[in-house]
Amino acid sequence: MTNWEDLHRRCMACQRCALADTRTNVVFEAGHRDAEVMFVGEGPGENEDLQGEPFVGRGGQLLDEMLSLIGLDRKKNFYITNIVKCRPPKNRDPLNTEQDACIGYLEEQIDLVRPKIMVCLGRIAAMRLIKPDFKITKEHGQWFQLDDGIWRTAIYHPAALLRDPDKRPDTFADLRAIRAKIREVCTRTY
Ligand code: URA
Repeated sequence: MTNWEDLHRRCMACQRCALADTRTNVVFEAGHRDAEVMFVGEGPGENEDLQGEPFVGRGGQLLDEMLSLIGLDRKKNFYITNIVKCRPPKNRDPLNTEQDACIGYLEEQIDLVRPKIMVCLGRIAAMRLIKPDFKITKEHGQWFQLDDGIWRTAIYHPAALLRDPDKRPDTFADLRAIRAKIREVCTRTY
């Protein structure tokens, strides 16, 4: 079994894929390591790369505002990370080879946090963590429970909500369902 110190040290020094050559910072995590709710995005953008923290740009601000409406605060009661820990150049989608190189770190993070609920932010995370053919427009807000017993769902990526505000009402409905699931299965979040 892994421990946080060792995992963090290995991740910070990682050279498993070419994103290591262009990154400013490895973006490992934010929030609480003992949270019951975990959010997973796709990969750092420019601001995240510069600051070394996930979801700190415009999308991250929107995410924090939306999550505050259901009583979630990264300083208090959730954990957040990404599928890949280094910024893909020009914010392109992370390649499958890059995801494959990086996914072991996320698996260790999940083992250490042992969340009750995992929320995928966008299609890329949902395809990795729920099922490879996940369709975000059709399946956002649905719940899936895999062998590990963790409840999983996906919502639109905050960048998609910035591009297309018409998607926001669906996301607010999904967030209300997440709040209800937290009340159902979590004991320390609210
Ligand atoms: N988009 C993501 O998927 N993750 C981040 O950390 C920032 C933007």
